[in-house]
Amino acid sequence: MTTEVGKKINAEHPGTTGSLGCAISEAVEAAVKNEGYRYVLGSVLNQVLLHQTVIGLEVQTALKKHNIKPDILIACTGGGSNLGGFASPFFGEILRGEADYKIIGAEPASCPSFTRGVYKYDFCDTGQICPLAKMYTIGSQFIPSANHAGGLRFHGMSPILSELYHQGVFEARAYEQTQVFQAAEIFAKAEGILPAPESSHAIRAAIDEALKCKQTGEEKVIVFNLSGTGYFDLYAYAQYNDKTMNDVIPSDKVIEEALAKLPKVPNM
Ligand SMILES: Cc1ncc(COP(=O)(O)O)c(C=O)c1O
Repeated sequence: MTTEVGKKINAEHPGTTGSLGCAISEAVEAAVKNEGYRYVLGSVLNQVLLHQTVIGLEVQTALKKHNIKPDILIACTGGGSNLGGFASPFFGEILRGEADYKIIGAEPASCPSFTRGVYKYDFCDTGQICPLAKMYTIGSQFIPSANHAGGLRFHGMSPILSELYHQGVFEARAYEQTQVFQAAEIFAKAEGILPAPESSHAIRAAIDEALKCKQTGEEKVIVFNLSGTGYFDLYAYAQYNDKTMNDVIPSDKVIEEALAKLPKVPNM
């Protein structure tokens, strides 16, 4: 209730618990209204992915050093900087015809931009004060359910990743949060590392791919990005352990309503 755009969003979505799209609008307003302030977006935009490629370059170097050729590469996706940063050096190899990898983006079923979105121009923020971007989106007016614990609560997806997904260069999967926390628990018990809920989407996909290999008897090298720790998310872990965590998947109607509010621009 302290920003104009926040008040507008509250009026349009009474009782909202917010989203990354809301936070972006409020941060831009705070930067514009305060002398000497600047706003820097930490995900989604192509230059952020470029910056994050330090992760993928390091992975690529480490794999080469140990003479390991990955078959499958997996990272979670919120706005896309995590998968983009991790996988871009490998996308480069695929696009230059130097190698072939199966790359998977793991997103939450509660905010399924890739798997249920459309590839159109949309606002990057809920308050609609940022420029438009062509991206996979479920609509800037979509606000994910408050019960989703992790940070992957963005309605759209980075333009570079959206184009690569559109071209079929990689695949995406959507996971419900209880299956994500189940994977997180398995990982924590096996590795002694408490993973972030966001990263645990990638762990879920990695476990599923490994289980497929177990069934088929194939041997594959699966590399996933463990993007953060879960020490800030102990409340969500407690909910999972107490069995009070549940899954909320938006209905087609909710997504259609958000998509009906996309800006009207010629689809290029
Ligand atoms: C620990 C962690 N990993 C990955 C991500 C996803 O990053 P991106 O939204 O840039 O795809 C987030 C985003 O909130 C995060 O907190």
